Amino acid sequence: MSNKDRIDQEIKFEVTPWNVEGSVDYDKLIEKFGTTKITLELISKMKKLLGNIHPMISMEFFFSHRDFDWILDKFENKEKFYLYTGRGPSGMVHLGHLMPWLFTKYLQDEFDSNLLFQLTDDEKFLYGKNSRKEIEKYVSENILDIIATGFNSKRTKIIVDTKHISSLYPTALEISKRITFSTARAVFGFNGSTNIGMIGFPPIQAVPCFLPSIIEGQNTPVLIPAAIDQDPYWRMTRDVAEKMGYYKPAQIHSKFLPSLEQVGKMSSSKPETAIFTTDTQEEASRKVSQAFTGGQPTTSLQRMLGGNPDRCPVFSYLKYLYDSPKESMERQLECRGGNLLCGECKHDLTKSTTTFLSEFQRKREKAIDMVPKFMYNQ
Ligand code: TYM
Repeated sequence: MSNKDRIDQEIKFEVTPWNVEGSVDYDKLIEKFGTTKITLELISKMKKLLGNIHPMISMEFFFSHRDFDWILDKFENKEKFYLYTGRGPSGMVHLGHLMPWLFTKYLQDEFDSNLLFQLTDDEKFLYGKNSRKEIEKYVSENILDIIATGFNSKRTKIIVDTKHISSLYPTALEISKRITFSTARAVFGFNGSTNIGMIGFPPIQAVPCFLPSIIEGQNTPVLIPAAIDQDPYWRMTRDVAEKMGYYKPAQIHSKFLPSLEQVGKMSSSKPETAIFTTDTQEEASRKVSQAFTGGQPTTSLQRMLGGNPDRCPVFSYLKYLYDSPKESMERQLECRGGNLLCGECKHDLTKSTTTFLSEFQRKREKAIDMVPKFMYNQ
């Protein structure tokens, strides 16, 4: 890639539920999507309620929301809420997907919430190149990752769209009747070459926002933790919610774990940019050793000028999964001051990642026998 192409790609960015390109400006995205930034006031409200604050909040991986303050008010007033999150099974799960999932597990533990976890096998068949058979394989594999994340088996139900369609379809119909094609086109960017399955799909992803009210037999608040790429679905759902007699679903949005390359998000469609939960120790080590960093071209320049952690995926990964907020701050200062070399950060990341993966893979093995317990069965 030429320098000019790289700069162009960094300036321009695009975020849709199916594609994230370029270097995302999250403040601009808040403005564009009309969401609300997580403020210090909201963080202190959460801290007061729970007595702690998750590092993914304090380190601003979760940065934006819709009505999260309302969810906290509901909880304070003893009204319990459901959590809802999901996965489009287009490949194996990578460490980026785990960002909203690990945070959802934390919320489930803290608020003792029920969780609906949707697998949109229909969406991924309609959007991508995978055959139905390939998608089926990813559904089974992804379910093991969901269970290995550690959700409470008594409080979590996994919905697979094609398998559980009879529970989703009646409500999907109610939703679809209230959304015009011109709204769908404006929200999702559909055009003349979009297949009609994709155009009809969004109500299916909206249904689990209302399913808790149907299950509980009373209006039930729902909070969706996800990266911000999924927000268009919730904008559409929030538009119809009250007309259908339901609360608007609330959201808490994360940023994207970056690609191991220079720009973009970690993506399963570009395997070299991502560390998968099923990667061998050798694969993970090789990917980290080849990763882009925010360092200088030579050791002496690095010692003289320092590195740039703001554009370094290795720094981001360490901050996200392994460093405490204090350790991350120290790492940042050492890097900027030229006292820390990229090789040292890569060494730390390789060591922590291989330990993390072997523990996660052990849980994945154990998950095989637990699948029936987690499946939605209404
Ligand atoms: P999918 O499979 O694209 O992504 C699954 C979840 O991972 C988030 N995500 C990331 N988070 C951080 N860093 C990244 N690099 C990264 N890449 C993806 C996504 O935001 C998502 O939360 N249509 C959905 C499936 C779905 C869903 C939901 C997701 C159905 N219902 C409810 C969230 C909430 C999809 O294809 O997700």
